[in-house]
Amino acid sequence: MVKIGIIGATGNVGKQVVQQLLQHGVPAHALVLMASEASLGRVVAFKDPKDSYKEYAFVVHSSVTPPECAVYILATEAHISRSLFAILPKESVILDSSSALRMDPQVPLLSPLMNGHLISQDTNVYAHANCVASPCSLALAPLRPWGIEEVVLSSYQSASGAGWGAMQELLAASTDHIKGNPVALPTCYPRNSAFNAFPEIGALRMDGHSEEEVKIVHEIQKILELSVPIYVTAVRVPTLRGHAVSAWVRLRDDISLDEVLDVFHNAPGLRVSGTQGYHSPQEVMGSDLVFIGRIRMPAARRLQFWACSDNLRRGAATDLVESTMRVMSLRFLKHFQP
Ligand SMILES: NC(=O)c1ccc[n+]([C@@H]2O[C@H](COP(=O)([O-])OP(=O)(O)OC[C@H]3O[C@@H](n4cnc5c(N)ncnc54)[C@H](OP(=O)(O)O)[C@@H]3O)[C@@H](O)[C@H]2O)c1
Repeated sequence: MVKIGIIGATGNVGKQVVQQLLQHGVPAHALVLMASEASLGRVVAFKDPKDSYKEYAFVVHSSVTPPECAVYILATEAHISRSLFAILPKESVILDSSSALRMDPQVPLLSPLMNGHLISQDTNVYAHANCVASPCSLALAPLRPWGIEEVVLSSYQSASGAGWGAMQELLAASTDHIKGNPVALPTCYPRNSAFNAFPEIGALRMDGHSEEEVKIVHEIQKILELSVPIYVTAVRVPTLRGHAVSAWVRLRDDISLDEVLDVFHNAPGLRVSGTQGYHSPQEVMGSDLVFIGRIRMPAARRLQFWACSDNLRRGAATDLVESTMRVMSLRFLKHFQP
């Protein structure tokens, strides 16, 4: 049996990956769950997707001595992924969710619905775009025939984007705030997260941009093979799950609002919420789609819209699982009967 190793399987993205692989019919005994030394021997349970009374219990392994697998899915922070690249077997396929290799020109950067064709027999290491860059790439891609000339994005990013610990910090700070207790100093964020919003995701750099803003710009440019200017302000908001983006796009060629609606309607991975309709983060939880709403044209060749998606799925677990299924069918179909 071909084994699929999930490293970071106890985290926000890793848990989603395991759940979705089971939903795709990957047998539980083909999955090897790994995390830090602290989780060694921990048992984690997942509901059988076909029978909610049945559960699969997995014993977590340590990534210090990773069991041998044909494919490793890395749902770990960038510095952990970097240390894993050195010890994982060279002949295995590595699908990384972190920023470690995203801008390496030798490594394909995947948003699989867009460019899954980059997965081949000859390449063993793949990076995956982040939870703003992947959905924004899906939203911008169908506009390319009209010549994208400039893009301005503002993101509204939930706590889960910063990991499981950040969600717990938001919940604890919110509870303290409501009860009138002193709110503990933040450890996962630069400011208090409860009932607050701040334009600082990742460190602020000397050039004034945050690390998250720079990632979003470069990742969208790499995926769409676009060198046009993209300006981003990335904001953390006190939602738990689901990211939203407000977008402004300048196009080279004329397009009508009806044509825009039609183009979005026919694009993979998108769902049109409407010109006045829109989806909010709570409403997109559990979906793989990017919902495009408030679509409007304030002037000729200028387009504005609101995009909302589940950050633990699109641009995270769903992308990793789509890549895994493609790798399995390309390389291991003979040994792998879901
Ligand atoms: N959250 C998102 O929306 C999102 C979207 C796209 C990409 N990503 C990327 O996905 C990665 C994981 O994010 P997350 O939100 O899932 O983080 P998370 O909830 O904090 O989970 C981190 C995982 O990494 C594991 N880990 C920590 N140290 C390790 C080590 N030395 N060896 C092996 N595993 C180790 C943790 O295991 P323990 O439980 O044992 O500590 C946990 O399973 C990050 O690179 C992030 O940037 C996240």
